Amino acid sequence: MSEFTGKTAIISGGAEGIGLSIAQALGAEKMNIVLADIDQTNLEKAGNDLAAAGIPVLTVALDVSQEEQWHEVANQAINMFGKIHMIVNNAGIGGDTGPIENQDQQGWQWALDVNLMGVVFGAKVMTPYIKSHGEGGWIVNVASMAGMGGIPYLGAYTATKAAVVALSESWAGELEPSGIHVSVLCPAFVQTRIHESGRNRQKKYQSKNSNPAETSLLTDLAKEKVEKGIEVSIVGKRVVEALHDGEFYIFTHPNYYSLAKQRAEMIDQAFNKSAQSPLLKHIVNQEIEMP
Ligand SMILES: NC(=O)c1ccc[n+]([C@@H]2O[C@H](COP(=O)([O-])OP(=O)(O)OC[C@H]3O[C@@H](n4cnc5c(N)ncnc54)[C@H](O)[C@@H]3O)[C@@H](O)[C@H]2O)c1
Repeated sequence: MSEFTGKTAIISGGAEGIGLSIAQALGAEKMNIVLADIDQTNLEKAGNDLAAAGIPVLTVALDVSQEEQWHEVANQAINMFGKIHMIVNNAGIGGDTGPIENQDQQGWQWALDVNLMGVVFGAKVMTPYIKSHGEGGWIVNVASMAGMGGIPYLGAYTATKAAVVALSESWAGELEPSGIHVSVLCPAFVQTRIHESGRNRQKKYQSKNSNPAETSLLTDLAKEKVEKGIEVSIVGKRVVEALHDGEFYIFTHPNYYSLAKQRAEMIDQAFNKSAQSPLLKHIVNQEIEMP
């Protein structure tokens, strides 16, 4: 028996990859699992696999960028399991790669709607259900190491993942008093099909960059990196380990620490520079008040 036993988790993008790995790990903790995904074929398969492993499971079709579909997920989850305790906002896409001048509106909108608004809608719709029973709960947002520092030629993805880190920091302070623990998962490369995200690109976001047959140097590079990433089953178990310990930032690649440290040191140096500016002398020692 753990703090998760008998409670209910909703996992977006749970049909495969990191989402399914988290579902398996939470299922092993005896949680009820609601898998929600845009890919109905894989969704059904994943649901059958979890059920065969003895995990109570419900599958619901969901495009995370459509707020009204989240309400349907919540309704079905409540009908089947009674309460909702955890939302794992995992569904995400890699987005277009390339130089800034080649990025078009449709590509940006795809990344913003799925990677950012998908997370916003998931939290917005599920939070009242988690608050309602008073038993507390969890919001787990899946960002990326890309959210911890910009990746050249991957602007839209980087921007949305940085936004997910920032949102998680904001929500953590807001929701802790309601007993809802917020975490943000920041993996580096994991063996999934993230480099083939175009398979789920909705029609309205199709653009000249979205031809799935297009193989640029950058997509090949991404594929190679992902294929050399860590094995996906580790990620779900790592998330459970981190949630048991109440971790906020959940890292899966301790070998990337030097990158985060380098960024922190650059920020440190930049603050020191500003403190030396004659223009800012009058506020160097001024107290700040946080809201
Ligand atoms: N694999 C990596 O190297 C890596 C690294 C850092 C972060 N991530 C993040 O992990 C999360 C999961 O990605 P993954 O690596 O498992 O990729 P994946 O492509 O294997 O799985 C993504 C899942 O999300 C679903 N999905 C895509 N668009 C959707 C939509 N609009 N609505 C609902 N479901 C949708 C897909 O059908 C799929 O089941 C993403 O947020 C991704 O950015 C992955």
